[in-house]
Amino acid sequence: MIILGIETSCDETAAAVVEDGHRVLASVVSSQVSKHAPYGGVIPELAAREHLKAIQPIVGQTLSEAGTALDQLDAVAATQGPGLLPALLVGLSYAKGLAAALDKPFIGINHLLAHVFGAFLECPELLRKPETYPILALIVSGGHTVLLLIERNGQSRILGRTLDDAAGEAFDKAAKILELPYPGGPVIDRLAKNGNAARLEFPRGLCGRPGQALKPENRLNFSFSGVKTALLYKVKALANADALDQPLELSAPELADLAASYQEAVVDALVIKTLWAAADFAAKTLAVGGGVACNTRLREKITEAAKIPLVIAPPKYCTDNAAMIAGLAGYNLRAGQTSGFDADAVPRLAELSTVPFTSGF
Ligand code: KG4
Ligand code: ZN
Repeated sequence: MIILGIETSCDETAAAVVEDGHRVLASVVSSQVSKHAPYGGVIPELAAREHLKAIQPIVGQTLSEAGTALDQLDAVAATQGPGLLPALLVGLSYAKGLAAALDKPFIGINHLLAHVFGAFLECPELLRKPETYPILALIVSGGHTVLLLIERNGQSRILGRTLDDAAGEAFDKAAKILELPYPGGPVIDRLAKNGNAARLEFPRGLCGRPGQALKPENRLNFSFSGVKTALLYKVKALANADALDQPLELSAPELADLAASYQEAVVDALVIKTLWAAADFAAKTLAVGGGVACNTRLREKITEAAKIPLVIAPPKYCTDNAAMIAGLAGYNLRAGQTSGFDADAVPRLAELSTVPFTSGF
């Protein structure tokens, strides 16, 4: 069963050919990051235009690397949402058009479930084992910070999400405050390695504080706007700058300590809530995916803290890619779950399909 997957939900144009859910024959990712860098974030219309230019060459390259001819494909899959609407429309329309021309099924994929699947792409045996479930997944990227529970019957539900910025956004916006390049996550990660994470005190959003009870409905939600504001004030104090339109004058050790202390606060909030959710719902496996799952400190801390088996996506399947789309689509196709040609792009896709992972490949 060979599937071509396409991913255009944000600023990566990606295509992959995956056989039987897990054998990645080719996976190509073309990043537009340099086009968005001058704006310090992704501009949806610009992303869509770049996808339009890149999609045909990327699909061609992917098929050729995979050694797969179009008539060997059993289906064409694409991300349906969540994501940026103009960007989603490009991949979705292309995939539907190709599937229609080939007279093959089209499969619309939920991007969040695909990120969870990315953690298991290289370990299909875990998905087959009933004792792996329920899986508690933390999906952290530039657009999402979500805790998902996946039951043994394949049913998924969202247990918590960010109320403001996504974790990746928290890193990207912090980098902007620190006058570092976009995307900020990898830069802060690198700087933090030489910094003292205990030097500066940052709030752990929605984790509760003495004398300030956490509302029960926010137990599994996240908030990163407070920590970002705290950074702004600390930078002002350290750089002795009232007007932030002046270039910052931070020493290298100050910058490293700010990066390390800030990163520690973001990572702590992610790890604390993930462990709470795992305990509340008696999860048997923890899974972590999404671009922020590349973060060295998050990988270290959650590995140290996890009390149940942990699967973190390999870095190449953390950031947006189409192998996770084509792989997950394999399970959908085998279960007869294909999409209509009227499938719409859904920027805030809330509905999660039920994927029978335990039936295995
Ligand atoms: O999953 P992804 O490629 O795209 C989205 O769906 O958003 O994630 C990109 C995000 C960016 O915000 C980037 O700063 C963050 O992931 N990121 C990191 C690291 N690598 C990428 N954040 C923290 N540490 C990293 N090492
Ligand atoms: Zn993503």
